Amino acid sequence: MNVLVAGGAGYIGSHTVQELQRRGYRVVVVDNLVSGHRSAVRCDLMVADVSDRQTIAAVARDYRIDAVIHFAAFAAVGESMENPGKYFANNVVATQALLDALVGAGVTRFIFSSSCAVYGQPNRLPVTEDTPACPESPYGESKLIVERMLRWYDYAHGLKFISLRYFNAAGTAVDGSIGEDIRPAIRIIPVALEVAMDKRPQFTLNGTDYDTPDGTCIRDYVHVQDLATAHVRALEYLTTESRSDIFNLGIGRGYSNRQILDVVQRVTGASLNIVQSPRREGDPACVYADSTRVRRVLGWEPRHSDIETMVSSNWNWRQAHPNGYLD
Ligand SMILES: NC(=O)c1ccc[n+]([C@@H]2O[C@H](COP(=O)([O-])OP(=O)(O)OC[C@H]3O[C@@H](n4cnc5c(N)ncnc54)[C@H](O)[C@@H]3O)[C@@H](O)[C@H]2O)c1
Repeated sequence: MNVLVAGGAGYIGSHTVQELQRRGYRVVVVDNLVSGHRSAVRCDLMVADVSDRQTIAAVARDYRIDAVIHFAAFAAVGESMENPGKYFANNVVATQALLDALVGAGVTRFIFSSSCAVYGQPNRLPVTEDTPACPESPYGESKLIVERMLRWYDYAHGLKFISLRYFNAAGTAVDGSIGEDIRPAIRIIPVALEVAMDKRPQFTLNGTDYDTPDGTCIRDYVHVQDLATAHVRALEYLTTESRSDIFNLGIGRGYSNRQILDVVQRVTGASLNIVQSPRREGDPACVYADSTRVRRVLGWEPRHSDIETMVSSNWNWRQAHPNGYLD
């Protein structure tokens, strides 16, 4: 089967490409390299924007594409609050152009990188797929809009889709072959590792007075290779069942910020300069997934999503690549 991976030069995309190749899929990446890295791609790469309909149509035709996995997006919640237009343009408008090009080329299978940000502040835990979607950021809204668009493309054009609502991606390839190099780092583990490497003077811990056991926020983290295998499962499901669906992709338990910082200190041997600071507006105390459906329907089981592996794999890659990818 031939798969086009949009955004395959990025963090989750490159790990998914690797997993697809391991399973014998033929893969081509389309990426404009706005945040991705050429050297993370070990297959054919077309440097182009996903909104470039001519290129997408040509790739779909030339590679006889059977399915598309779409990672290409901007993904910083805070930035989206300040610049919503940037997020709607890239995550929604460009995705619509991509969908139109794919429909025109006769592609009928589509997997979409959605996010737990569609839920906003969940009204109950764990978060199921039936928890009301009430995004509290333009980023989360952009993901929800695409999910809604997808329903109508299915209805009108028979484009079958799986939307995977990731919770928090973490870790890097356990064999050290590829890594994570999003600049600037915004997520807790990469930022804490940069502090451990003396690339930042301090770690700012936002909110220590939440109603959680240690007072810090709790989130659900999934190892990036486990995310990657979920995409392969989703592809198999679309091929055999040909039915659109939406799944949460979390492991079903959370780690607090303090627990993560403890593991970072243990793994790196560094003593982090942690500066306590007030809560960030809009940060819920605790978010973790109910992952029953993805386990039951797709047969997905996480294998690397323990916190030690998620931290140590990323740390090992950074030790081997102190300046990240060199392109
Ligand atoms: N990292 C997480 O924890 C997380 C959580 C939930 C959802 N997601 C979603 O997963 C996807 C991948 O995220 P990531 O963390 O790997 O980010 P990333 O920035 O590493 O990957 C995004 C890739 O898409 C490319 N890209 C962006 N806009 C493009 C465009 N218009 N045309 C072509 N290429 C474009 C970038 O160059 C990059 O290679 C995103 O859709 C993100 O919203 C990520």
